[in-house]
Amino acid sequence: MPRPSACSPRPTTNVGGAVNWLEAVLPGMIRAGHGTIAGISSLAASRGLPGAGAYSASKAALSTLLESTRVDLRGTGVEVVIVCPGFIRNGSADPGDDQGKLFLLELEDGVRRILSGIDRGKRVVHFPWQLSYLMRYVVHNMPGLGYDWLISRLAGGARHGGDRPGAVGP
Ligand SMILES: NC(=O)c1ccc[n+]([C@@H]2O[C@H](COP(=O)([O-])OP(=O)(O)OC[C@H]3O[C@@H](n4cnc5c(N)ncnc54)[C@H](OP(=O)(O)O)[C@@H]3O)[C@@H](O)[C@H]2O)c1
Repeated sequence: MPRPSACSPRPTTNVGGAVNWLEAVLPGMIRAGHGTIAGISSLAASRGLPGAGAYSASKAALSTLLESTRVDLRGTGVEVVIVCPGFIRNGSADPGDDQGKLFLLELEDGVRRILSGIDRGKRVVHFPWQLSYLMRYVVHNMPGLGYDWLISRLAGGARHGGDRPGAVGP
């Protein structure tokens, strides 16, 4: 029987960890009246991705948590940036893991884009533009049936592989 991709420790880390650090840093930042918080979400937050259910769900939750926090902090001088990268090659990745990762960026390029977006005062930093457009507009707005059809073809067998962050989406 296929293993659903909903079971993973990532929701705890990605959402619970963010709640913990927000609780830790916000009081001091609000007292100081300035500062920027950047949370690393993902373009995978746009839609439920096969093979990465827990990951997609946790990043969607993180994005909405950060969005709510940004609104809550209006007028305090504390800014919140939601960072939604596409695929970035990281040091720990097995080279074989790069297969199928559209518009994969080198680590330095990804970091440069994140810092540049934060410096420019963007509320949401999302890149690369090709994957961002695909995920945030095309895929995000697709009707359910069309989405299921398309993504299951793009994913191949990945949707039955258990939770595999990055198996289909970033
Ligand atoms: N790489 C991508 O393509 C990509 C795309 C979109 C979004 N992102 C997001 O960017 C962030 C960094 O990703 P990455 O690719 O740089 O991953 P990574 O190389 O695997 O690094 C993950 C980091 O998180 C730490 N970590 C994992 N679980 C933890 C826990 N329970 N408590 C404390 N620290 C923990 C790890 O610490 P240890 O080294 O000690 O294990 C490691 O330093 C993640 O939030 C990821 O979802 C990545």
